[in-house]
Amino acid sequence: MDAITIRRPDDFHVHFRRGEILKSVVPFTARQFGRAMAMPNTSPEPILTRGDALKYWLEITEIVQKVGLSPEDFCPLVTIQITDETEPNTVREIKEEGMGGHKVIVAGKVYPLGVTTNSHNGVSDFRALYRVFAAMEEVGLVLSLHGQVPKAFCLDREKEFLDTLAMLAKDFPALRIVMEHISTKESVDALKDLPKTVGATITLHHLLITLHDVLSFVGEEGSEGLNPHHYCQPIPQKLEDRGALIGAAMSGNPKFFFGSDSAPHLKERKESSCGCAGVFSAPVLLPLLVGLFEFHGKLDRLEPFVSEFGARFYGLPLNQETITLNREEWVVPKEYNGIVPFFAGKTVGLKVQG
Ligand code: DOR
Ligand code: ZN
Repeated sequence: MDAITIRRPDDFHVHFRRGEILKSVVPFTARQFGRAMAMPNTSPEPILTRGDALKYWLEITEIVQKVGLSPEDFCPLVTIQITDETEPNTVREIKEEGMGGHKVIVAGKVYPLGVTTNSHNGVSDFRALYRVFAAMEEVGLVLSLHGQVPKAFCLDREKEFLDTLAMLAKDFPALRIVMEHISTKESVDALKDLPKTVGATITLHHLLITLHDVLSFVGEEGSEGLNPHHYCQPIPQKLEDRGALIGAAMSGNPKFFFGSDSAPHLKERKESSCGCAGVFSAPVLLPLLVGLFEFHGKLDRLEPFVSEFGARFYGLPLNQETITLNREEWVVPKEYNGIVPFFAGKTVGLKVQG
């Protein structure tokens, strides 16, 4: 096969930021995906209300148009951040929100307090937000969770959140909940046992790297060292965890779908004494995903994972267009506008056509 064609996929978790970074990163996603769900932890101002979300949608769309694409080719989806201050009415205002016939505000995101980039306004008490979750259940807004307990040991944070996830699923049986970027075998197992209303996104980098690639990375000259560009939250874990994630992504279980968590940070913010969490994977997503599924002999499971299960979970129509990848080698640039991408400097064997 010289080329691989699939239904145009969706990315159900991406960080686009604002300002200059927004301009440089949006085109990578827009050229590969039909839709992508932009996270609300922007700086200096997060996306907190319907008005903020619609303004952000327009900012993203403007860039999409500048690179010659229309909202028919790529439609951004946006989210609001749920904080301790969010009121049920903030959520009720979002009912049936659409732009030009497209439903665009699709989720409310909860970051536990202080757990990752720009989460200083995160949630400290889930129970105190029950009126907000009830409003989300009522209007059909998906609850998107950064599922980690901030005070726990760094490698146990996700595991310790699973009780909260089960509690929310039980207390809000009609609320659709997504546990974002799962990183452990325990999460995969827990998800399988939870009701259909609970799904999970899986990133490309958690399918490819483990903690070893963060802390014992073999550099160009052959010696091992820390790779800050592989550092993200949740922290990639052991081989058995990565194996469970690969199993889940390739299982055909519709609870597991793709969300890249592509999270750009300027190189100097990553290569620092307090490096930011985030892997900027947008430029290499589809070539590496296709390569990974092919390597495991599961190419038939790729399209459901990237182009169907997420859309169905969110109640969105499937994309009708296709995308083709050609077998063509290219070297991933070492930087894009001051941001180091995932697989920088490495050769990739597939390239998105066009
Ligand atoms: O690695 C991460 N980076 N994980 C997150 O949850 C946030 C993200 C970011 O915004 O940089
Ligand atoms: Zn994220």
